[in-house]
Amino acid sequence: MITIKNLKKSFRTEEVETLALNNVNLKVEDGEFVAIMGSSGCGKSTLLNIIGMLDNPTEGSYNFAGHEVGGLKESQRTQLRKGNLGFVFQSFNLIDELTVYENVELPLIYLKMGKSERKEKVIKVLERMKIAHREKHFPQQLSGGQQQRVAISERLLPIQN
Ligand SMILES: Nc1ncnc2c1ncn2[C@@H]1O[C@H](COP(=O)(O)OP(=O)(O)OP(=O)(O)O)[C@@H](O)[C@H]1O
Ligand SMILES: [Mg+2]
Repeated sequence: MITIKNLKKSFRTEEVETLALNNVNLKVEDGEFVAIMGSSGCGKSTLLNIIGMLDNPTEGSYNFAGHEVGGLKESQRTQLRKGNLGFVFQSFNLIDELTVYENVELPLIYLKMGKSERKEKVIKVLERMKIAHREKHFPQQLSGGQQQRVAISERLLPIQN
């Protein structure tokens, strides 16, 4: 019922290009139960967004119940989605308009901490949570687990030494 061939998805920001999916091949039969597993940031949500027809692949083909999804009009996709797909989202309470760095820095600004001290603390906690390489990204440009780690960074700050 689901056949995915040579699927690729890349994201581009001003700073970097991320190849989130590199040649995914997948077949799911009717009635089959499938779990997609992998480390944070490996591309699970990206794949599910494409399977859920919420996003488009950069390359490759996706066939759902005999329909080639890439060739469908938005209205046809909507019909197919409504009738066949259910979705539960990941989400976190980060401020969408602020970068990762700025989100973590915000509580320290409220504490009236000086800029250089803030910088030192923010970088330290982001490194500890292995998310410093995404400091200039906005929350929407991160994987769910990465957003979770940013949220944890913010909460770790007051207790970090
Ligand atoms: N809109 C976007 N713009 C730029 N990069 C993105 C965007 N969405 C995802 N990425 C990057 O693509 C990669 C895959 O993200 P994805 O959300 O698919 O991960 P995931 O496997 O669901 O991770 P998690 O378990 O943390 O939820 C990550 O490195 C992420 O930073
Ligand atoms: Mg995810």
